[in-house]
Amino acid sequence: MAIGVGLLGLGTVGAGVAAILMGPEGRHPLVAELALRRVAVRDLDRPRPLELDPQLLTTSPEAVIDDPAVEIVVEVMGGLEPARSLILRAIAAGKPVVTANKAVIARYGEEIAAAAAERGVYVLIEAAVGGGIPIIEPLKQSLGGNRIQRVSGIINGTTNYILSRMADEGAAYGDVLADAQRLGYAEADPAADVQGGDAADKIAILAGLAYGGPVARAGIATEGIDRLDARDVAYAAQLGFVVKLVATAERVGDGLEGPGEAIPLDVRVHPTLLPKHHPLAGVHGVNNAILVEGDPVGQVMFYGPGAGAGPTASAVVADILNIAGIRRATGSQAGARLDPLLAASSWRRCTLVDGSGTSHRNYVRLQTRDEAGVIGRIGTCFGDAGVSIQSIVQFEAREGEAGGGAEIVVITHEVRESAFRSALAAIEALEEVRTVAACLRTL
Ligand code: NAP
Ligand code: HSE
Repeated sequence: MAIGVGLLGLGTVGAGVAAILMGPEGRHPLVAELALRRVAVRDLDRPRPLELDPQLLTTSPEAVIDDPAVEIVVEVMGGLEPARSLILRAIAAGKPVVTANKAVIARYGEEIAAAAAERGVYVLIEAAVGGGIPIIEPLKQSLGGNRIQRVSGIINGTTNYILSRMADEGAAYGDVLADAQRLGYAEADPAADVQGGDAADKIAILAGLAYGGPVARAGIATEGIDRLDARDVAYAAQLGFVVKLVATAERVGDGLEGPGEAIPLDVRVHPTLLPKHHPLAGVHGVNNAILVEGDPVGQVMFYGPGAGAGPTASAVVADILNIAGIRRATGSQAGARLDPLLAASSWRRCTLVDGSGTSHRNYVRLQTRDEAGVIGRIGTCFGDAGVSIQSIVQFEAREGEAGGGAEIVVITHEVRESAFRSALAAIEALEEVRTVAACLRTL
């Protein structure tokens, strides 16, 4: 007997999932045992890229969930509501859920996990982070024996696509964003991509899994690429760096905190200068990569397409198959005991620390008067704050900018954020310095 699947959404991802279910040839035999029973969309008249029986379509997501022929609910409609309520409705009905919705999981994951544990159903989220890259399952299961030191990565395909094309072709930001939307990479509201919110959702999810407890999404320091100046991308390239939107979750303590104890974490998203030889620097286009550093595994990198119909559908179907496989093996329905690894049960609390105690390198671009002694005075400000300079370079300001003065770019050695901030305050107070035009972290 086939296992009934109900889809909430038939957009980029939903259509990709339907295409796999409707073409099982050459895939694992369990795929052929999945039957698409109902599909919710917003607009019944919208042309669809697949030949789907129109009888399957409805504008009522509740009708999909409540249909007795639907045994697994796949939420790929996006947004916070009604997606959250629909996931909870499916759980209450004892139906396992597969979702690609990182926005909902990052904000309501705790509530959803508690409801799922109570009802004894799985909620699986492989597609929520990294598109086609298997990263959720490895963090939950394959790397479970490690103490995780850091999880960092490029986890937004749209912004990586934009930055890559700006750097490689000098393409204009707006044109490339429009291409990312056309290709199905961007969120319904692309502000979530370019302002860093989507990457923040994803690093919240990855950190929660890596460290064993939910991370407060609202506390994640987030900066996107929307205010990044193309000049900084160009200057960075001249100095041997590439600029990427990097998300990082790093433990601040020793990682030995036990069940019930809080583990302090530094979690953030921002444009970052990467040396050209860094493993994340070679990640181009819509690809994503996630570096996991753990004890004893060392450094493991997961790489692949981070957005788009096919890759994301691949991850969604992997989760459907996981649930179908359990059903076939155990015949279990709702109410069964869940595997704590697959269900990713929380066992620890995570707290977020502010970044002022952390140390890192920095890139700073200053617009200054072009006169003797300026570089020396800037160097003194850094030196007085105990900030060591790795390189300092003067570029000529463009006509009409910086009053025809100079642009000075400084790369510091690794320093504490608090020391760096006090040096910057002193530099800003120098009368030769017109403005601190850009300030980016550097790996
Ligand atoms: P999309 O192309 O905008 O598709 C959304 C689908 O949901 C559409 O079919 C839409 O119907 C339907 N829908 C929306 N609200 C509805 C409602 N209230 N009732 C019934 N149907 C509704 O979005 P997507 O790109 O596939 O993304 C879906 C989810 O996957 C999001 O959570 C996104 O963050 C996540 N995700 C996307 C990607 C990607 O590469 N695109 C990758 C990973 C995760 P109509 O077709 O009639 O408008
Ligand atoms: N908008 C997201 C991105 C989709 O560009 O990465 C994949 O989650």
